[in-house]
Amino acid sequence: MSAPSALTLSRPDDFHLHVRDGASLAAVVPFSAARFARALIMPNLRPPVRTTQEALAYRSRILAALPAGTDFSPLMSLYLTDQTAPEEVERARASGCILGFKLYPAGATTHSDAGVTDIRAVYAVLERLQETGLALQVHGEVTDPSVDVFDREARFIDTVLAPLAERFKRLRIVFEHITTRAAVEFVLGARSGIAATLTPQHLLMNRNALFVGGIRPHHYCLPVLKSERDREALCAAVRAGSPRLFLGTDSAPHARAAKEAACGCAGIFSAHAALELYAEAFEAIGALERLEAFAAHHGADFYGLPRNSGRVRLERTEWAVPAAYPYGEETLVPLRAGEQITWRLTAMESA
Ligand code: DOR
Ligand code: ZN
Repeated sequence: MSAPSALTLSRPDDFHLHVRDGASLAAVVPFSAARFARALIMPNLRPPVRTTQEALAYRSRILAALPAGTDFSPLMSLYLTDQTAPEEVERARASGCILGFKLYPAGATTHSDAGVTDIRAVYAVLERLQETGLALQVHGEVTDPSVDVFDREARFIDTVLAPLAERFKRLRIVFEHITTRAAVEFVLGARSGIAATLTPQHLLMNRNALFVGGIRPHHYCLPVLKSERDREALCAAVRAGSPRLFLGTDSAPHARAAKEAACGCAGIFSAHAALELYAEAFEAIGALERLEAFAAHHGADFYGLPRNSGRVRLERTEWAVPAAYPYGEETLVPLRAGEQITWRLTAMESA
């Protein structure tokens, strides 16, 4: 089959997105709204988005930051803490726009210090989640500093996630941004009600990308990039087309100065070209025909949301990614800064 010169897909959703707040929010959210119909917005602000009321207020700020006439719907996740009240689950459910609660093991990643210190502290909340059908979105890494940074996801599966899935047999769980062969095997072999998101960077790059000619802070995210063997396992799984796997970019903007520092922040900004980067990744593994279901069907189906109407069009036209984008008073270095991307978004129709 010859390589297609254009792709038309149902409008996709991004089920894992960081947009921050204030001027940063206004700088980044238009990129997502230009490509995606909906996005699940992560709650790791400072202070975190812990209650339904806070999430609804944050959602209003996101809507207010959108360019006029944009048809984009933010979906929300609440930040779980040791103190989350089980009754918050009912309020979240009643809001209609909160899809679940996000588990950050305390200390695992950016702005996770208010996260959960011991999973047993949130058992009562998980009971309610299971009853209401809201999901648990999981940052799946152990925080024990003695565990090798490349083993933290696999260790989390064995010590936290697998026992949790067993204990709460009807809890709907999204294992976010999976990075390892172990995670692929866990998700594909798990009971029903367990799914995973995959980022563009973990499909496109392995950990060598952190050290090409020197240290590359803009390729640093958490979970960190893994081995080529792990990347191949992720690619093989999306190529096989499991409905348990869907799009979640984890686009995570940080100002240039916060990345290019002696202790740089974790997070890769990919929203400027998210769908285009997935198209490149899927084409590289001969799976372009799987892209639409991964990007537009599997996530909506998992969350019990209607599939989107409308289409997006990508054309095979190389374009150069800018070296940086404005980011409030600062600048933001995107994934592939100053390099070429094969696919270009040329149209989105929401009807
Ligand atoms: O790389 C990451 N950046 N991983 C996360 O889990 C959080 C995110 C962020 O908020 O910057
Ligand atoms: Zn994230």
